[in-house]
This record gives sequence, structure tokens and C-alpha cells, in this order.
Amino acid sequence: MFKQDFKYYKSKKPPPSYENVLDFDSENILHKVIKRERITTNSSLFGLIPTEEWEIYDIKENPGLVFIKNPFTRLGQRYWITRCLKSYPETPNKTNLDIHDLIPHNETWWESSKGDNEMLKKLRWATFGYHHNWDTKIYSENSKSIFPKDLYFFTKHFAETLSFNLFNPEAAIVNYYHLDSTLSGHTDHSENNLEAPLFSFSFGQTALFLIGGESIDVKPTALYLKSGDVIIMSKKSRLCYHGVPKILNCVNKSWNLNENFDKDELIEDFIDKNVLNLCCDNDKWERFNNYINNSRININIRQVLRKGEIKVNK
Ligand code: OGA
Ligand code: MN
Repeated sequence: MFKQDFKYYKSKKPPPSYENVLDFDSENILHKVIKRERITTNSSLFGLIPTEEWEIYDIKENPGLVFIKNPFTRLGQRYWITRCLKSYPETPNKTNLDIHDLIPHNETWWESSKGDNEMLKKLRWATFGYHHNWDTKIYSENSKSIFPKDLYFFTKHFAETLSFNLFNPEAAIVNYYHLDSTLSGHTDHSENNLEAPLFSFSFGQTALFLIGGESIDVKPTALYLKSGDVIIMSKKSRLCYHGVPKILNCVNKSWNLNENFDKDELIEDFIDKNVLNLCCDNDKWERFNNYINNSRININIRQVLRKGEIKVNK
């Protein structure tokens, strides 16, 4: 069932009907989801609207799957897009380009792809913290880089707001998608700790996301992941099949909406000030803007170790 639906939504000819895709901008989904009560402990963090204003949903067909409708400010979206393009693909983080040795050693991918569209399109993933090993799927103490402070505190904020107080961000994958990219169905089961939730942030163009059951025979739910949307795969949904059969051009470029930058937005110590400057200056932002106008970026964050474990024992 998963494969069949994946193929259906991936198809260009004939194009699929989107009528059954959950769209959190539409009123028609209310029988399929449960909207949570607003959070009353008002707290906020750089780049996010106050937690009181978050719209959080549980999806009836997929217990454990939590959806937060874009809680980011415009500046917040720009910040994470810029981090993912400028900083996270830098060594010692790993990317799919490493083995090809395409980038001069004194340059970063972002620098060397300036004016080089081919190079720009070549980056598909970056990993940091414990590196995801795409072949063996085994994490190793010998293969890790520092987990960046900003993403660490940020993910903790999401976790604590949703009462996953013990969650510890230890591994991240950033996926870079173009309008013709797909991600085939899979489960994420390599972490020693499979009770901990998995956090996923989406920016840029819209993904059509499928999530089914622990077996490939379960018919998946189809939903849109738009710029700024967050999903959490927890409990029963943590080990479910999921994938991205299609990227769609978004309607609403919410990273460019004409709200004023909030000059009073509290700037925490762990925010990268250079990156922030790039986002606030429309000229400097231009290259990042061109990229995200045709691409999607997904950051997904996992805990690897079990409680009390100090290293992976493999
Ligand atoms: C992954 C993944 C989903 C997405 O990297 O494991 O499932 O939304 N990504 O890109
Ligand atoms: Mn996955």
C-alpha cells in the first residue's frame, strides 16, 4: 500500500489528485485531526512566535505524529535556511560531496557554488553530531562532529514545549531537495534509543509527505509540509514508514512576507550573529533567496543514546 501510494503521488503523467492530501491551511481537515488546546505557559525563543500562539495538531490516523503549523517568524525561517546553506555543510560535518573531492580544500560548498548552478544542485545531504551512516546505518563514536549549539537549544525548546523533557539532540541530517527530488519510503531505526521522538523542520518549497504504519502494507496518510512546518514522530509513529514522493512549488513564500523584522526579537547568545546579519540585509540574503525559491530544506534531529548511556556501544 505504501509503495502504491508513493507511485501514485510521484507520477507526472497522469498527475495525481491532491484531494486526499491533508492541508493544514484548509478547514476541511478538522474531522481528521485533533487540534490541541493552546499552550498557556507563554515562552518564546529567537525566530519563533510565542508558544501560546502555536497551532498543534494530532492526526487521528497516525497516533504519535504531531504537527505544528509554521511557528517561525520570517527572520527565524531565514536564519535556519542560511545556517543550512552556509554553515552546516562545512567540514567537519559530512556531506554527499565529500567522496567526490569537488570542492577546493580552502573553500566551502556555498562559496564554491557561487555562479555554479551545477554545484549548487549537487548537495543532497549534510550530517552532524553522530553521523548517519547511509550504508551500514550504524552510528559510531569514531564518526561524529559537534552538534551546533543553536540547533541544540532550539530543538530542546520544541521538545520541552511538548513535554519531551528528556530529549537530547545528538544527530542531525539536513536534506536538500530540488523540484524533481524524492525520498523513498523508509523507517528510521538505527538509533539505540527508539523511544525518543524525532523532530523534523521543513523550509522552502512544499513537500508532499507520506506516513504509514510499521509495515509497508499500511495505507499512508498524505500531508503537505510547508515552509516552517514542524513534525514530531513520537511513540507509535516513530518507527513508521515515511517518504517524500514529490516537491511542489509553494504558494506562500512565508520567509519573505512583508512583516517588519522585529528589532526587539530577543537574541540569545547561541545565535550565530554573522548568519543573522546575512538574513537581515536584503542584498546579502539574495543568493539564499534564489536557492530557496527552487528548493526545499529539511532538518531532522534524533537522539541516539538511551538514558544513562554515554556512548554507542558498537
Ligand atoms: C529523513 C526523512 C523527511 C523529509 O531524512 O529521514 O525522512 O521531510 N526526511 O525530508
Ligand atoms: Mn526519515
